[in-house]
Amino acid sequence: MSTNIPPKLIIANWKANKNVAEALQWLEQWKQQEPREHYHYVLCPAYPLLPFMLDLLQLDPPVSLGVQDLSNYPAGAYTGEVNAHNLNNLGVEFAILGHSERRRYLQETAQQVAQKAQLALDNQITPVICIDQEQMENQHAALQAVLNKQQMSKLIIAYEPVHAISTFGGQEDPLPKTLSTIEQFKKLFGQKTPVLYGGNVNPENSLKYLNATEIDGVLVGSASLNAAQLASL
Ligand code: PGA
Repeated sequence: MSTNIPPKLIIANWKANKNVAEALQWLEQWKQQEPREHYHYVLCPAYPLLPFMLDLLQLDPPVSLGVQDLSNYPAGAYTGEVNAHNLNNLGVEFAILGHSERRRYLQETAQQVAQKAQLALDNQITPVICIDQEQMENQHAALQAVLNKQQMSKLIIAYEPVHAISTFGGQEDPLPKTLSTIEQFKKLFGQKTPVLYGGNVNPENSLKYLNATEIDGVLVGSASLNAAQLASL
């Protein structure tokens, strides 16, 4: 990075899309792109795709790897779970936790999200906690109940209004509301906590969010499935 401007985080959430062949095709397309300066990209594919995406870590600039969830159980006899320990040596630096699809379809609770955050931090993985405005206080309290002050300071928050997520309607959040909600998040979690915006971010509207100094980055679903679209945010 040539200047001191802190990079904006662009976190790509592939959700349960793509198989190995499709992921490798995306990787080849990504290598043809000229991603923007001052953006730090993080790709969160489905678990089985991670070993196929390790090339991303070697690119200039590198793309970091993340996951879309983690078990709230530690390593051990928990059939079907994937925990932070399982991910050792797969280059995973970030974990999206508490996504609204998981809260809605799998009834994930604020307490479970907090346990997952603790296990992620214990394994040097940075939690990216997805929270809508009305969950803010409750999720903050659940996190504070299990994390110490230093761990709290390592969290990244993604403000994701449920109605804005393309799965649930994709109704764009007006910028003034985004900014005032982000201010509330920063008051509660600390001014230094990075707060991202997520919900139907695409090449047409991305700069509206990314040019705002108050917004530390974006969490992108659908648009990230296409390498050219992700690079043109
Ligand atoms: P979307 O997904 O960009 O497709 O709305 C965002 C998200 O679910 O985090």
